[in-house]
Amino acid sequence: MAGNRLDPWVDSYAERAQGLTASAIRALFAVASRPEVVSLAGGMPYVSALDSDRFAQIAAKVVRDQGTVALQYGSGQGDPTLREQILEISGLVGVRSHPDDVVVTAGSQMGLDLVTKVFCDPGDTVLVESPSYVGALGVFRSYQCNVVHVAMDHEGLDPQALREALGQAKSSGSRVKFIYTIPSFHNPAGLTQGLQRRKEILAIAQEFNVPILEDDPYGLLGFEGEPPKAIRSLDDQGVIYLGSFSKIIASGLRVGWVIAPHGVREKLVLAAEAATLCPSNFSQLTVSRYLSEENWQQQIKVFQELYRERRDALLQAMQAYMPTGTTWTVPQGGFYSWVTLPAPLNATNMLPRAISSLVAYVPGTGFYADGQGSTNLRLSYCYPQPDRIAEGVRRLAGVIDAELDLINTFGAAQTDQTATPPVRSINPLSNLN
Ligand SMILES: Cc1ncc(COP(=O)(O)O)c(C=O)c1O
Repeated sequence: MAGNRLDPWVDSYAERAQGLTASAIRALFAVASRPEVVSLAGGMPYVSALDSDRFAQIAAKVVRDQGTVALQYGSGQGDPTLREQILEISGLVGVRSHPDDVVVTAGSQMGLDLVTKVFCDPGDTVLVESPSYVGALGVFRSYQCNVVHVAMDHEGLDPQALREALGQAKSSGSRVKFIYTIPSFHNPAGLTQGLQRRKEILAIAQEFNVPILEDDPYGLLGFEGEPPKAIRSLDDQGVIYLGSFSKIIASGLRVGWVIAPHGVREKLVLAAEAATLCPSNFSQLTVSRYLSEENWQQQIKVFQELYRERRDALLQAMQAYMPTGTTWTVPQGGFYSWVTLPAPLNATNMLPRAISSLVAYVPGTGFYADGQGSTNLRLSYCYPQPDRIAEGVRRLAGVIDAELDLINTFGAAQTDQTATPPVRSINPLSNLN
């Protein structure tokens, strides 16, 4: 045993564990969780909007009426009734499938993990949007994938850039295993692909014979009109679809799903069984009963309204307070807006000052595998009340103003010298999603 004083086993870890690191930025969020800080950082769903008494009754009924099943091991693929209900929900975004091709997971995060485990050897390439979901990047890193970011425009993933990236990968002999995309209400970019854009992306993926991994946890949380049709609704063989109850019921239930072509589904079930034996029967039956006894469509409308009001509060406050030169995306659903700071500000360097000013955000670099994103930050409006969101934006605008003043007075280098508040180590993914 060699290692060091803090970790005697450090030399024994697998190579893939080297990718499992908590950045200093993430550690700052321990400070950001103080109540006086307005956190526009974490993507936590506002579960207080659920009727917790009703939920307690449902959970009690599950134990009372179905206890021997709920408290027992179950099918590795997931409860058959729930899988049928999942298809009813996925039908709202146009996905048609057979319950046999649904795999229930502990959240779509586990779906991401399983798909990557099944498809990727170390060094394999995955194409992701630029920026992309931090939790997916963590999975890809842990399987030692080569992550290639592909540019987005105002409508999300840019087809021309995708074609070029696939062409380059092909000519350099890289093995591209899938294209990972979040087409609706993107985390963190807040953008949505139109139907035509989805068709173009699918056509390119088909041309290069590369599957699409479609991550759609926010698809039913649009603020206007019908939910966007999933890419999976256009092709059931070339697209693996990830869904989740985290944002439309409650994230603590840890129930999500994968809908995959038949062969892929078989591998996913075996990988899932190896990881957890089976998803929690208690959670699954609670979700299933909630779906059959409650007006879940109405609850989704409640969430949509709530998040729309918070999105409006964020946009109005940014319009009112943000200094000239700051730009942001206008989300039509979901939880996030992506902000670009006036040059040459650096969102990572600015974070300590923001936290001292009692506002927190996620710096853009967290959403890249390659260090890009220093001029960007992600703001989440899902959790704080509208007046707190407005106050948070006011504080953030003050911080940006102060940084700009500093640069105008002393030059860009000075902004790196802001004091860092004390930090303690935290779980790297907690509260960050
Ligand atoms: C794009 C995206 N994918 C997956 C997840 C994970 O969600 P779940 O709670 O279903 O694991 C999140 C959570 O924020 C997300 O934003």
